[in-house]
Amino acid sequence: MKVSIIGAGNVGATTAQRLAELDIADVVMLDVVEGLPQGKALDIAQAAPVMGYDVDVTGTNDYRDIADSDIVIVTAGIARKPGMDRDDLLAINIKIIREVCANIREHAPGSIVMAVTNPLDVTTYAAVKYMQQERGRVFGMSGLLDSSRFATFIAKEIGCSVKDVDAMVLGGHGDSMVPLPEYTTISGIPLPQLLDRKTIDRLVQRTVNAGAEIVGHLKTGSAFYAPSAAVAMMTEAILKDTKRIVPASVYLDGEYGLRDVCLGVPVRIGKGGAEKVIELELTAEQEQALKRSADEVRQGISKI
Ligand code: APR
Repeated sequence: MKVSIIGAGNVGATTAQRLAELDIADVVMLDVVEGLPQGKALDIAQAAPVMGYDVDVTGTNDYRDIADSDIVIVTAGIARKPGMDRDDLLAINIKIIREVCANIREHAPGSIVMAVTNPLDVTTYAAVKYMQQERGRVFGMSGLLDSSRFATFIAKEIGCSVKDVDAMVLGGHGDSMVPLPEYTTISGIPLPQLLDRKTIDRLVQRTVNAGAEIVGHLKTGSAFYAPSAAVAMMTEAILKDTKRIVPASVYLDGEYGLRDVCLGVPVRIGKGGAEKVIELELTAEQEQALKRSADEVRQGISKI
């Protein structure tokens, strides 16, 4: 198995480390900056004897090295700076996505493509259009990260293990995301039975702002430990064909009453990528929120 990661920055390199530690695939890291992917790859490779993984980790500036990848993960782009909205990134990152996709088409045409670069739903849409692949083989990682953040806050509030929390967040990876308390459970117990509405609303708000909260602390970069964890889990689900059910940004073709837009919805992840969209019954309020989220993503799409 071979996984290529485009962009050897914080998210890309941490993903490479996590995948190496999972010992599931050879990893190639590619970046435009000379020396950066090579240096980081060497460092990760030299941890192998201590950590006990056998996979190869290499760095390159040459797209020929991504040939025969099973999965290509796209993290290339600039990250959010304080005061910068996800949409501010759009113009710069969409150009990068276009260039990256052209190279994937040329050098690893059969691979599954996972977009990570923000603004996520718009870059995913662009990747879907540029790659011209079967639906599901090009998708974006977002909802799993948002769900993981929501679950973290819930576990802290309740004072329980994060392992018992199963959270579900749909919609765009932005201010219009739609956390679903009714579909969030703690060892099978629906969240609204354990926390009151006001507390849930506070946790939902913190989840929506979670990325910005971290940018506010870091000042010169954005989150990468939790994003790379979500990317690694989804990559493992594809390579091992485990059929995990998680939210991810996929091209919608009528599901949830939405068409020609990418948005976070629950999907089944297996060797075919985001193989199947799972449609949930939503309240009128949640449906409205999802539509608003789709409109926001469409605004971004119209700018490209
Ligand atoms: N081709 C390949 N790599 C590129 C290109 C390009 N055209 N343009 C930029 N890069 C590389 C940069 O050189 C840098 O090493 O992408 C890397 C991005 O790394 P960081 O700046 O550390 O950003 P990171 O925190 O990894 O975030 C990457 O993921 O979560 C999203 O919002 C985040 O869009 C951002 C992306």
